[in-house]
Amino acid sequence: MKVGIVGCGMVGSSAAFAMIMSGIGREIVLVDRNTARAEAEADDLFHAVPFAHNLRVKAGGYSDLANASVVVLTAGVNQKPGETRLELLGRNKAVFEEIVPQVLKYAPGAMIVVASNPVDVMTHLTANIAMRYGMSSNRVIGSGTMLDTARFRTLVGEALQVDSHHVHAYVIGEHGDSEVLTWSLATVAGLHLDEYCHSLGICLHEHQKQIIDDRVRGAAYRIIQGKGSTYYGIGSALARLVKTILNDHRAVLTVCAREKLVEGVEDVTLSMPRIVGGSGVQSTIPLHLAPEEHQGLRKSALVLKEAISSIET
Ligand code: 2OP
Repeated sequence: MKVGIVGCGMVGSSAAFAMIMSGIGREIVLVDRNTARAEAEADDLFHAVPFAHNLRVKAGGYSDLANASVVVLTAGVNQKPGETRLELLGRNKAVFEEIVPQVLKYAPGAMIVVASNPVDVMTHLTANIAMRYGMSSNRVIGSGTMLDTARFRTLVGEALQVDSHHVHAYVIGEHGDSEVLTWSLATVAGLHLDEYCHSLGICLHEHQKQIIDDRVRGAAYRIIQGKGSTYYGIGSALARLVKTILNDHRAVLTVCAREKLVEGVEDVTLSMPRIVGGSGVQSTIPLHLAPEEHQGLRKSALVLKEAISSIET
């Protein structure tokens, strides 16, 4: 139950912290080209262990990833205020071309979890590199819209004054500007959202839904404007994804993975609700979307296809 984290910035460190707090895995290995940073983070995180769960935490090189069950990739640059995730592509592609072969060399049996942005395209790229090394692209999974789905559920729960754990609602497509909030599928306590609101005498007007949509889509921009980067949300999402894989939980998560065909767009990586277990994505849930959601998903698939094509040519 060894978990490697490549990239010890705020996202990688927050993921490790969330894993320690929840007791996920037995050993965490932090790898960063800034070895002093990796060692400092490992020490600091290890000192949290007596207050939480008994995990080993250490800094290491790629060879220390041997026998890891999961390796999480958070390396690369983050968005600056106002920058889109897709604008990071060129810089993070170069980083991944360097690190992914090293990870595959030393941890050929690991599930690879991609978190660096633009996460859908980086996941596609990682799957391409894995195939080049004779590995199945099924071993590669991206955190996709897990965080957007969490943001959506939080805001709907807040608007309805109900615990967001009881809100089921998914964000699909790109983890980025073209993502699609699937309002037509949202349920609370087994009731469709509108029926739930009607039954409890709650009004959730279209303009309130639009505010939630804007807040979910714009969350990262606002947080980056205010404090430079986002990390607690994504760190927690990554810990949940690692736990799901290590324990073969078969949880329904909106991770991104490669699809042969989405809304007429071939070979594209984006998020859908998927059953995730020990060997990655077990299945993708077919959705009955509203017409405008179908259109939104096609638009998102086209945006990603263009970005993917730009790195494949
Ligand atoms: C986020 O959505 C920046 O992708 C990161 O928080």
